[in-house]
Amino acid sequence: MKNKNNVIKIGGSLLFTEKRTIDSEKIIAFSKIFKSSENPGTHIIICGGGLIAREYIDAVRSFEGSEALCDIFGIEISRINSKLIIASLKNLAYPQVPKSIEELSTAMLFNKIIVMGGLQPGQSTTSVALEVAEFTGAKELVILTDVPGIYDKDPKKFDDAILLRHLTFDQLQELILKNSDNKQAAAGEYRIFDAVSLQVLKRSNIKVIILSGKDLNEFKKYWNGEKDILGTIISND
Ligand code: UTP
Repeated sequence: MKNKNNVIKIGGSLLFTEKRTIDSEKIIAFSKIFKSSENPGTHIIICGGGLIAREYIDAVRSFEGSEALCDIFGIEISRINSKLIIASLKNLAYPQVPKSIEELSTAMLFNKIIVMGGLQPGQSTTSVALEVAEFTGAKELVILTDVPGIYDKDPKKFDDAILLRHLTFDQLQELILKNSDNKQAAAGEYRIFDAVSLQVLKRSNIKVIILSGKDLNEFKKYWNGEKDILGTIISND
C-alpha cells in the first residue's frame, strides 16, 4: 500500500454478531491489523451505524420524526461504534471522534489512528469516507461491507447475482439508477453508494475498493499490498 493517508470504511453491521451482540473478537481482530501495521501515513477509519442505527431510526420514524432526525440518530450510533474501535486500539488511536472535517484536520496533527462516524444528515458514512479521502488526498478508499463487493443485483435477494469486479464511475452511476427506488435516500437506507458519495467520487477521482469485511481475510491481503483480492474496484482506469 503506497498512498500516504489510508482511509478505510467499515460497515457498522460488521461489528455485531448475528445474535445482535457486539462482536468484540472481530473488533479486536480488526484493531490488531493496525497495531501490527507498518504502513506509512495517517490511518483514518470511518465506522458505520449498522443494524443498531437502523433500530433507532425505525423507532424515531414510528414517532413520525423527520428523516433528518432519523439521520441524527444514525450519526450518533456511528460515533458510538467508532468509540468502540478507539477503545480497542487504546493509545494508538486519537481519543475523540472528529465531528467535522475541521476537527479531523486538528486530529491529524497528532499522528494517531483516527476513527470517526457520520457528519451531517442526508448522506451515509460512505459519503463521509469519500469526503475524508478527498480532503486528505488519499488516492484510494477501501470499503468493508457484508458482501464481497458490488453485484449486478442485490445478492441477498437474488441467487444469480453476479459480482462485478471492475466498474467505471459511469457504470456505477448507471447501476445505481437502475437499482434505485424511493427508499434509496431514506435514513438508514443509503445503499453502498448513495447520491452524495457518487458526486464526491466523480469530482475527486478516488479509486474505491469494496471488499467483504466479514472475516477480514481479504482486508488483510489488501493491507499487505497483495494484488489478488476478491472484491470490486471502482475507478476510471
Ligand atoms: P450508514 O448507513 O452509513 O452505516 O450510517 P452502515 O449501516 O454501517 O453502512 P453500510 O450499510 O454497512 O454501508 C447509518 C445512518 O446514519 C445516517 C444515515 O441515516 C445512515 O443511514 N448518517 C450517516 C447521516 O445522516 N450522515 C452521515 O454523515 C452518516
